[in-house]
Amino acid sequence: MRLDQVIAGIAKRLDAEGIETARLDARLLVGHGLKQSETELILNFDRQLSEAELADFEPLVARRLRREPMAHILGMREFWGLPFKVTPDVLVPRPDSETLVAGVLEAIEDPSRPYRIADIGTGSGCLLLSLLSELPHAEGIGVDVHEPTLDVARSNALALGLASRSSFVIGDYAETLEGSVDILISNPPYLAEAEIADLEPDVALYDPHRALVSGSSGLEAYDAIFRRVASWPETPQLMAFEFGYRQAEDVEALARRHSLIGATCAKAKLLQDLSGRNRVLLLDFRP
Ligand SMILES: C[S@@+](CC[C@H](N)C(=O)[O-])C[C@H]1O[C@@H](n2cnc3c(N)ncnc32)[C@H](O)[C@@H]1O
Repeated sequence: MRLDQVIAGIAKRLDAEGIETARLDARLLVGHGLKQSETELILNFDRQLSEAELADFEPLVARRLRREPMAHILGMREFWGLPFKVTPDVLVPRPDSETLVAGVLEAIEDPSRPYRIADIGTGSGCLLLSLLSELPHAEGIGVDVHEPTLDVARSNALALGLASRSSFVIGDYAETLEGSVDILISNPPYLAEAEIADLEPDVALYDPHRALVSGSSGLEAYDAIFRRVASWPETPQLMAFEFGYRQAEDVEALARRHSLIGATCAKAKLLQDLSGRNRVLLLDFRP
């Protein structure tokens, strides 16, 4: 069979399973199986594939048909233009989370300063490491509740040449941190238990439950982080929290309840994701 026919055949099978990105996924799966780049595939569309080559990527197609995310099958996902290793121990980085990175960078006046950044619920480390890649003198700490998750973040830091400016520690939200950070960021688990039933199988079956669900309301993580941060003797200059697209009002209200908005005069700003929906709360404590 010719390469382009093989890709078309796989795309048809994925499409029949209701996979919206069938054509793109088919190309990526075949490229991964043949260890060829997108350009090499295009240049070789009329090449005949051997039985052995077909056998190489059929298991990959079978995994995608079971709705395993592409990032798990390929073992990586690009975020902020950087390659991040992804395993079942971490949430697959989402394009919408780039809103937080962009928002923090836009708010920073001098990127050359030695900012200290803390990332609560760091997962793959994508938020913290993307910021460190843009802020050459900053250093950061990523906290997560699961040691194998931290191993993935550490290996991403190493691969990106950022290990000397980052550390990853186990902890329960911000409980182990004593403050002394300039920038606090978090994309914590924000779904309520009941919402799991509404998720696509790619997410519900493969992203870690601990990365998705925070409790019965979906707001428990923010409550815990805000309470802890409000008790620090020094408030970070900047904080940014990602939330679910229907949670802006609730998260703002919680921040107000913990006096992070209002009494301490934080300038609060909502940032929108790629679909124009409120996605990030940015709190600016600078005078
Ligand atoms: C929504 S994921 C975000 C991962 C990553 N920051 C990102 O944006 O892709 C939430 C992360 O919080 C971690 N987490 C869950 N409960 C936690 C807790 N009690 N303390 C610290 N981290 C926690 C999960 O393991 C997961 O890595």
